[in-house]
Amino acid sequence: MSPTIRPTHQLFTLADFDEAADVIRQRISHRPRIGLVLGSGLGRLAERIAGANVLPYDAIPHFPRPSVEGHAGRLVAGRLGKHQVLTMEGRLHYYEGHSLQQVTFPIRVMQRLGIDMLIVTNAAGGLNPDFEPGDIMLITDQLNLAAMAGLSPLRGPDRPELGPRFPSMSEAYDLQLRRLTHRVASAQGLSLREGVYCMLAGPHFETPADLRFLRSIGVDAVGMSTVPEVLVARHGGMRVLGLSVISNVARPEAGSAGKEEGHAGVLAVADRASDHMCKLIEGLLTELRDLE
Ligand code: HPA
Repeated sequence: MSPTIRPTHQLFTLADFDEAADVIRQRISHRPRIGLVLGSGLGRLAERIAGANVLPYDAIPHFPRPSVEGHAGRLVAGRLGKHQVLTMEGRLHYYEGHSLQQVTFPIRVMQRLGIDMLIVTNAAGGLNPDFEPGDIMLITDQLNLAAMAGLSPLRGPDRPELGPRFPSMSEAYDLQLRRLTHRVASAQGLSLREGVYCMLAGPHFETPADLRFLRSIGVDAVGMSTVPEVLVARHGGMRVLGLSVISNVARPEAGSAGKEEGHAGVLAVADRASDHMCKLIEGLLTELRDLE
């Protein structure tokens, strides 16, 4: 394990979130209302941000550091489309050794900064037989197997200052934002897939039996991230949009996901698809008029 990762299952306090938020506020000249989380190989979007202020995670109190290739570890604030955004270039994964409290720390900090909309991206294995590598999938819903087994970033004492005790997840991914994304994609001539995303803890890819099980319970794409962040964002009252790049097929008959390509293959396909993803998100933030 990287010596920079010290997993803590302690709850962060409101003061911890605010300490991080204050440093970010002092170091950026923008007042973002939209947060962006860039998944594996999708960091290129950060290059399109105008008037960028860059802040490495290690300059921010309590901020965990990513250890995975393809995840830079810095915040980029600036303008994208018609909006000011705060972008996480490099996300944190549970499999790295971070606790779910640490994985979702940046989302709480965004919440304390007044961010009320979150766009999450990831690279995922496509279980749906219609999906091909390079496709972009709009996430319609998520399956939280970890939480079903008792692993949730919301576990712990009630903290009404952060959100309700029993948050609804009946519309985890905002319907209006999904409709707008479809409109923008079709104007760009981009065919968009749709489906249910499921997170497994990883870091191993799935067995054929895992994949048969996931398919039978209605999963379209599988990955190792996103779900805890979306749960915390919804708990904190944010609207959420999620997009997956299908980086590989994940089907029992094709062999276990990532068998040949592994993480390097995931990064290569995500990199190739990232132009479409960047254009789509930029187009969306140009069309998105108000945040009320
Ligand atoms: N499985 C799990 N996570 C992934 C995959 C996969 O096939 N591809 C990219 N992330």
